[in-house]
Amino acid sequence: MKMKFSKFFSMVVVLSMVVGSVSVFAGGARASSGKTKIGVSMPTQSLQRWNQDGANMKSQLEAAGYQVDLQYANNEVPTQVSQIENMITGGAKVLVIAAIDGFSLTEVLKEAKAKNIPVIAYDRLIMNSDAVNYYASFDNFRVGTFQGTYIETKLNLKTAAGPFNIELVTGDSADNNVNFFFNGALSILKPYIDSGKVKVLSGQTTLAQAATLNWSTEESQKRFENIITSVGYGPSGVKLDAVLCSNDSTANGVTNALVNAGYTRANFPILTGQDCDKPSVKNMNAGIQAMSVFKDTRTLAGKVVEMVNALAKGDAPPVNDTQTYNNGTGIIPSFLCDPIVVEPKDIQAALIDSGYYTLADIQ
Ligand code: BGC
Repeated sequence: MKMKFSKFFSMVVVLSMVVGSVSVFAGGARASSGKTKIGVSMPTQSLQRWNQDGANMKSQLEAAGYQVDLQYANNEVPTQVSQIENMITGGAKVLVIAAIDGFSLTEVLKEAKAKNIPVIAYDRLIMNSDAVNYYASFDNFRVGTFQGTYIETKLNLKTAAGPFNIELVTGDSADNNVNFFFNGALSILKPYIDSGKVKVLSGQTTLAQAATLNWSTEESQKRFENIITSVGYGPSGVKLDAVLCSNDSTANGVTNALVNAGYTRANFPILTGQDCDKPSVKNMNAGIQAMSVFKDTRTLAGKVVEMVNALAKGDAPPVNDTQTYNNGTGIIPSFLCDPIVVEPKDIQAALIDSGYYTLADIQ
């Protein structure tokens, strides 16, 4: 980590000395507007959170005086690669990237590095690339422990005799975050699974078995319908106590499968989520999702704008973790924002009073 950070920092210093200015952008042309151009590459518009992330990044960067090239890649890796290429040739001075597949950007980012364009990995770490300078996300392991602890508390696992039946659902295994979400949750739940107090009757306990391609609602619904059929779960069948879901888009698929199998708010298994997407907030209000984890995308965007500003001035961007996120080339200095647990009783304070949603958004 130290080497990588200090290497980048000395690049900043050397550049500053050479051009007699503190800006890392000083060596390159500015956009025709005269403003410094920032490339923002987002994975898809099909999930609510990335639309919010993109919109927040664009408005906050513009308010700070930058020109923003914001692109969405429709969850297609070649599209994301060519959008990043265009940003590089189009004169972007910093790249902010939320990767679709964390392992697929090594080649294109060599071009960024060759042009001394700093790269900030946004929310998802970009793997196997020494072109990545900083990472900004939420504390993803903690998200997982929140979900695991929620199930532990609600089922009273510490003291109840059990056994309890749960199932495990996580996201796309090309997303590095999945390791943190899944392992964070399992750090709480695995001892109970190992002792037999908690059973996973499908037998699908590994990350690979619990993964969901593209975090897709349809995929998770299909998988869960198969689990319901093969185990025989149902309101009058085998009891299902809880489903660990790493996020809301996958939780929505599980909810659809459970509702189709006859579950209602009176007997709904405890279901976790993440993001506080609108459909999940509605489901929480309807009693068919127990909790979600709120990650305020305004906070993350704000932190990334601080990083960009610091790079522009030749300062060191804010980081609060220099140990956890190794992308295969070394530790990437990171800023991890705080996630919070949201249950139905917290919706008003966390999501409405904070101005994140209006009441109409979630009714
Ligand atoms: C994000 C989650 C999101 C998931 C699917 C993850 O990388 O951290 O907030 O739910 O991707 O988009």
